[in-house]
Amino acid sequence: MASSHSHTLFIFNFLLISIPITSSITSFSENLLETITMTRMEKTSHLHFYFQDKLSGKNPTAMKIIGDGFGFGTTFMIDDALTQGPERDSKVVGRAQGTYAMAAQNDMALLMVVTFGFTEGKYNGSSISMVGRNHVVDDVREMPIVGGSGLFRFGRGYALAHTVWFDPKTGDASVEYNVSVIHF
Ligand SMILES: *[C@@H]1O[C@H](CO)[C@@H](O)[C@H](O)[C@H]1NC(C)=O
Ligand SMILES: *[C@@H]1O[C@H](CO)[C@@H](O)[C@H](O)[C@H]1NC(C)=O
Repeated sequence: MASSHSHTLFIFNFLLISIPITSSITSFSENLLETITMTRMEKTSHLHFYFQDKLSGKNPTAMKIIGDGFGFGTTFMIDDALTQGPERDSKVVGRAQGTYAMAAQNDMALLMVVTFGFTEGKYNGSSISMVGRNHVVDDVREMPIVGGSGLFRFGRGYALAHTVWFDPKTGDASVEYNVSVIHF
């Protein structure tokens, strides 16, 4: 008896949240039926790739757009390759596009605002968006995944980053990323 009662309650709740609150065509917003959550299951995907930050050479993929040295406020625009392995010439699986900026006055902490756009396999054309603090001197840094597109719609999760190598002369680096993302 108790279980059939809670079942009824569940259906009742579902009906409550699925009734559109606004139905006017001229309204700019509308509460949709909960069809996405009812018909598609959430998945967790794990991604592993290397971020190739290249400031040196003829064709740098990271460019300083403002600032002095690596001082506070210095900002870079990037279109860095994401590769399968740590080597620079490893197979490209996507690109990291966005900016990172020296966001700490007395520390080495970056604000990263980056879209990882994938170009290989089933994730070709899908992307995830990362925004977070990157305290680059730490062995492993965690940054939030705040959204996604394509197969990563409604994406959320976290990225773990670890610098594999860094050239202090040029600023070039190869960074390992493990990303866990929940999406539909
Ligand atoms: C990825 O998608 C683009 C656009 O649809 C296509 O041109 C390209 O060949 C695809 N790449 C791979 C590796 O499937
Ligand atoms: C990523 O995951 C692999 C496999 O579990 C592990 O060996 C590596 O240390 C992880 N790296 C980071 C930055 O989390």
